[in-house]
Amino acid sequence: MTDDELIEAAKAIRKNAYCPQSNFYVGAAIIDETGKLYIGCNVENAAYPQSSCAEAGAISAMVAGGGQRICTIAIAGGTAHHTSSCTPCGGCRQRISEFADTDTRIIVKGNNNEWQSFTLTHLLPEAFSSANL
Ligand code: THU
Repeated sequence: MTDDELIEAAKAIRKNAYCPQSNFYVGAAIIDETGKLYIGCNVENAAYPQSSCAEAGAISAMVAGGGQRICTIAIAGGTAHHTSSCTPCGGCRQRISEFADTDTRIIVKGNNNEWQSFTLTHLLPEAFSSANL
């Protein structure tokens, strides 16, 4: 699957986001170490802290589906009809970190509003991991 196809998968699933509080639709699409695709979207809740991010949904789908490592993750967020800058929140950087390697690619629309690929080390330097335990 090409990067463009992975971005399209993230854009497609974000249409299913449940986000009545924020109206910010996010989709995430993961390719695991075997090339298998997993998707997720944000699911909000009237009790705000119970909401979950798109990345969390896609990571849960990956683990449940037998995937072990994130090869590439694309994240797309924005209004119902247009994507805008959407870099992963701090909590999701940590979630991605659990399953990321040095060559894992995180594809997002960066703060310059262009699709860019980042490494986890760039987004979460000096991360806490099992190596710290
Ligand atoms: N959101 C995500 O799904 N992923 C992120 O990395 C950033 C934020 C969601 C959470 C909430 O439902 C909405 O976007 C607005 O913050």
